Amino acid sequence: MTQDLFGDMTDDRRTGRELLCADAVLLRGFATQDAPAILEAVAQVAAQAPFRQMTTPGGFRMSVAMTNCGPLGWVTDRRGYRYASRDPVSDLPWPAMPEVLQSLAQRAAAQAGFDYFMPDACLINRYEPGARMSLHQDKDEPDFSQPIVSISLGLPAIFLFGGLRREDKPLRMPLLHGDAVVWGGSARLRYHGITPLKQGSHPLTGDCRVNLTFRKAS
Ligand code: SIN
Ligand code: FE2
Repeated sequence: MTQDLFGDMTDDRRTGRELLCADAVLLRGFATQDAPAILEAVAQVAAQAPFRQMTTPGGFRMSVAMTNCGPLGWVTDRRGYRYASRDPVSDLPWPAMPEVLQSLAQRAAAQAGFDYFMPDACLINRYEPGARMSLHQDKDEPDFSQPIVSISLGLPAIFLFGGLRREDKPLRMPLLHGDAVVWGGSARLRYHGITPLKQGSHPLTGDCRVNLTFRKAS
């Protein structure tokens, strides 16, 4: 089983904080208790705005399937990366951000020292085995004073957390079910990514990993 790689760290009672660098914090187990409610909210969002694999401006189909909720959603196609108020598949507004997600993001940000975080975009990523996210910066938002809050559920993954230049050697951190990562301030534009997901099975998500990233995108 993939989870055995991480030994005792799969224990659902893991909590605590790990400083990744100045202004970047990993909150172990932050969302574990709320995970069933979060996943229920994700299922409701996906019923209105189904997961889809988007295309990069360069013409590649992303391995990660995505959807969004909140006033703005992150999208990519041949025209570029951007935030949009409507789902390009249905041309409907993105589903509203469920209260359980909004409050989770605000609490995670506050625990990491970023008070008054008001996300208006929640990108939901679904990784199946083999899916990956190459190193990138989150830089499509106009206001870099606001942090990024990232919540991991289901199968574990290796998070790459690099520097401000693509060449900087990234840290490799296992992210497990319930973990939150918050980065902002001087860390806001750090490169990050996810190595190809290993096969496995999680009681709440089956054979996938679900990641939610919250941003202030206006
Ligand atoms: C992202 O950078 O959008 C996703 C990161 C993750 O899946 O943990
Ligand atoms: Fe990102």
